[in-house]
Amino acid sequence: MALVEEFDLGEYIFPRGWFMIAEASELDDGPKGVRFFGKDFALYRGESGRLVLLDAYCLHMGTHLAKSNSASIVTNHEQLEGDSIRCPYHGWRYNPEGQVDDIPYFDGPCPKARIKSYPVVETLGAIMMWHDPAGGEPDYQAPDLKAWHDSQWINGCYDHLGDIAIHPQEIIDNMADAHHLGPTHGAPCEYFENEYIGHKYYQRQGGYHRMYRAYLTTLTWYTGPGLLLSRQRFGDNNGYEFIFHTPVDKGMVKVWHNNLSLAPGVNPGEQDIANAKMAQEGALAAFAQDLQIWANKKPALQIMALPVERNFRLGRIWYQQFYNPIEKAKEFHARVNGKHHLKGLAKPSALAVELQE
Ligand code: FES
Ligand SMILES: [Fe+2]
Repeated sequence: MALVEEFDLGEYIFPRGWFMIAEASELDDGPKGVRFFGKDFALYRGESGRLVLLDAYCLHMGTHLAKSNSASIVTNHEQLEGDSIRCPYHGWRYNPEGQVDDIPYFDGPCPKARIKSYPVVETLGAIMMWHDPAGGEPDYQAPDLKAWHDSQWINGCYDHLGDIAIHPQEIIDNMADAHHLGPTHGAPCEYFENEYIGHKYYQRQGGYHRMYRAYLTTLTWYTGPGLLLSRQRFGDNNGYEFIFHTPVDKGMVKVWHNNLSLAPGVNPGEQDIANAKMAQEGALAAFAQDLQIWANKKPALQIMALPVERNFRLGRIWYQQFYNPIEKAKEFHARVNGKHHLKGLAKPSALAVELQE
């Protein structure tokens, strides 16, 4: 598998941005240990409902704060106190900022050292963390969709696709990849456009889908480097697809998939829910066509791109902003911002753009 150094993306090994790290419901059973960006974390929902993400290991003797389900304080539901968490080994208590603020068997002042705490939010049924190798605060928000909160839209459950041995660059490449839509997905595009606006990367495309027997139009966009949302319409289907990916270790990403479907009436019934499930399965089957190729390909460190494939290069430049200090982001924006068409394919019609936005 390819390493970030080989892709030559910038100064960082892992990108800056908002990333999914768990499904919201995974915290219902208490603290959870998660591993991303080559590091271990303890994730939990405090008693007030506040989300907390801390470096996993206790300063005292290195115990993972969230990987015991058998310690007495865990089984007796005494591990969380308010929004603080106690280490399962000797009970040192950490507040949401990662500061030790109570040691059960010691009256003196707590050691001054602290473990790191990270920005974390819940949106779209997912827990998202802000990851910045330089430790900076978020410079944009994690995405939300009005439709997620609208009862006429049926929210799917996350498909957990597990850890995949691929560099995330190759997942991002898909955004510029107009000419795999026919051979891989059976829906060759007629019109195609990419647009870059700062931390956002858009793709507008449409074409006749062989299997769906309908004209498919999609508006797909990344908010930062790991969160893809896609508005998709064909026939009577009107939905959103989510593909979220987060680096786990070098050359390894974790991937989730979800769907939102618009029901025909305001109070979706059982049949509507069954249809939404089918739509999600269909979208997942299409994504699986990509996944199977990615899981078995050799890294495309250099793409032998034809002149009609210049957006691959632009997409990679856009992606580099997240592997470099934020002060440099503007330089990458200046190189790619704007709309970019591909020779040989139509531009989206005004109608296609209006329908999607
Ligand atoms: S190892 Fe955490 S309290 Fe001792
Ligand atoms: Fe694809």
